Amino acid sequence: MSSAWGRNAGDGHATAVLVTRRNLRQFAVAVPDATEIVRVELAERSYVIRIGTETLCEAGRFIAEIGKVTHALLIVDANVANTHGEVVARSLSAGGTRVDVFEVPAGETSKSVAQLSRLWDAAIEAGGDRQSLVVAVGGGVVGDLAGFVAASFTRGVRFLQVPTTLLAQVDSSVGGKVGINLAGGKNLVGAFWQPVGVLIDTATLDTLPEREYRSGLAEVVKYGVILDADFFAYLEANVAGLLARDNAVMRHIIARSCQLKAQVVENDERETTGLRAVLNYGHTFCHAIETAGGYGALLHGEAVSIGMICASRLAERLGRVDAALTERQRSLLDRLGLPTELPEIPAEELLALMSRDKKVEHGRLRFVLPTRLGHVELVGDVPPDDVRAVLTD
Ligand code: NAD
Ligand code: GLY
Repeated sequence: MSSAWGRNAGDGHATAVLVTRRNLRQFAVAVPDATEIVRVELAERSYVIRIGTETLCEAGRFIAEIGKVTHALLIVDANVANTHGEVVARSLSAGGTRVDVFEVPAGETSKSVAQLSRLWDAAIEAGGDRQSLVVAVGGGVVGDLAGFVAASFTRGVRFLQVPTTLLAQVDSSVGGKVGINLAGGKNLVGAFWQPVGVLIDTATLDTLPEREYRSGLAEVVKYGVILDADFFAYLEANVAGLLARDNAVMRHIIARSCQLKAQVVENDERETTGLRAVLNYGHTFCHAIETAGGYGALLHGEAVSIGMICASRLAERLGRVDAALTERQRSLLDRLGLPTELPEIPAEELLALMSRDKKVEHGRLRFVLPTRLGHVELVGDVPPDDVRAVLTD
């Protein structure tokens, strides 16, 4: 296989990507400063994801590579405002950017029209304009909310993601889905608005509560099941490093997850071909479990973990995989401290909620189901009796 070392454009320090002719992004590797780069190739909306450790203090240098930024509207989760938010604000200021900081209360309820409206007004008061950069520091809640501010303020401004939860680092900060919730449901108003860059610092995970951290691991396992059997095997072999939040292991799993998500997004940015739907493996069951339990009873990743096992068992019933595949997933999820058993919720209630899922087409149930480790398909017209059997077995 022919290969070449390429330095990231404008980098000026020791970051490199091993470029192969066979697959340009397959082999992003760590170099002495242990930074990994993943590119999301979307023509004029392309961007870089930089993954390192103790790298928040490089935020100023990172945006300087993106373009001239004289004003930043930094939107930060209240739980990390005095820690990670402060480091980012200082770094941007040191680079000559005027920074206005807006704290958002922690929690899903902040993805609201009220917060959005408050932030629009605050952006105007701070003298924001079309040249301003919106910076999100926090988990998926702040990333989705700030991203929608960026997509809508003055008809759209540049947006930088600085995700500080594992879930946000491996999923929500990449791919451009931004938005808020309505009383009628989650993520009902939003946009596709790609960031101009994503800066990921594994050290931010040091302060993340254990349950939140493990919840993020469920999405990492998902990438292995849907797209990469070797990555799944890596996770099985590195449970100790994963649970210890070893920085090298963190950088690898975040980089690989981002690469895999990037490849899907590049091929179906706006979820029109069905490809992007593969990222929702386990999510049809998950959303029903979350809604039935009341949002907050289980963390999202915990419900994803249970949902993946349900989906794999459904695939078994439909003769698509054997029981060993489900057991392999269950074993890894168990070792990572994630739940795999359905909570006590009546099957008919879950079935009714699933019928309202976004992936339902003309009343017929559709699921993302595995065919083997590392490969899934969107399967339409699944008989409700098979779903019911999975929910009651
Ligand atoms: P979150 O943003 O609510 O963060 C979880 C908790 O961790 C919060 O209490 C937060 O204050 C705290 N926190 C964040 N970083 C911390 C840190 N470094 N140290 C200590 N505490 C920290 O939740 P989440 O799981 O990151 O994201 C969930 C949201 O993401 C949901 O709203 C979901 O809809 C959205 N999401 C979006 C996409 C997408 O593609 N846009 C994908 C998946 C999920
Ligand atoms: N998290 C699903 C998506 O980004 O499409």
